[in-house]
Amino acid sequence: METRELQSGFAIEVVNYKSKRELKSLRKLLLRFGVIFIRDMELDFEELESLARVFGDLQDISGKPSSTSLPTDNKYIRTMEYDGAPVDFPAGWFWHSEMSYSEIRPSGGLLYMTKVPESGGDTLFADQRKAYSQLSTGMQKYIENLTCVHEVGWWFKNKPKKGTVQNVVEIHPETGERYLNVCDVFTTRINGLPFDEAKYLLTFLQNHASNDLWTHRHKWTKNSLAIWDDRLVQHKAVHNFNGERVGHRIQIV
Ligand SMILES: [Fe+2]
Repeated sequence: METRELQSGFAIEVVNYKSKRELKSLRKLLLRFGVIFIRDMELDFEELESLARVFGDLQDISGKPSSTSLPTDNKYIRTMEYDGAPVDFPAGWFWHSEMSYSEIRPSGGLLYMTKVPESGGDTLFADQRKAYSQLSTGMQKYIENLTCVHEVGWWFKNKPKKGTVQNVVEIHPETGERYLNVCDVFTTRINGLPFDEAKYLLTFLQNHASNDLWTHRHKWTKNSLAIWDDRLVQHKAVHNFNGERVGHRIQIV
């Protein structure tokens, strides 16, 4: 299998592989880098599911249709469809780790894009190991023992969901690396600090998490696949397009 580094130490593209079996080695690469892209893959749902299982068990993400996604006949695959209509819950348009507010956060995700608009509709990915490592030593020390709240806030149909208390700096369970665990849309509070200190520190960390220096912009093409580690990576969909964009999402437990 041949790969090409798109962003140093963070994003790679698989440019050549002999068989789908060879893709089993992608798990190691995902932990080493954080986000992987493969273009021009013809996959039906069964093949997509079996490729996703290389990275772990899958979450059941069936359930009710939302304004941006629909369940499919495969309970592990949800179709993300956007046709330009107004959206009441556009969390994906802001920087986030998938469902970072939930008790059981997904460890990773796959998105397989089957319909792309003529222009626009890119996805941005930001490297949270790098974000942490590029903080000053003093700041790293200061935030090391702080906790924060991840939740679906007041903006979700005025019905916030119960959030979870998490560390501002987390340690990846498989690689032992530290990463910044604060995202724009779901992190609402830093605990134990005076109000203004918490507010400005949170704003600083949220901006720092998505600094251009450790952000990769992915341009989708038809039948391209992105795989990412949801601890090491934050992402954001850029909704600057007309026309339809259709992708199929899987979440790794
Ligand atoms: Fe997302």
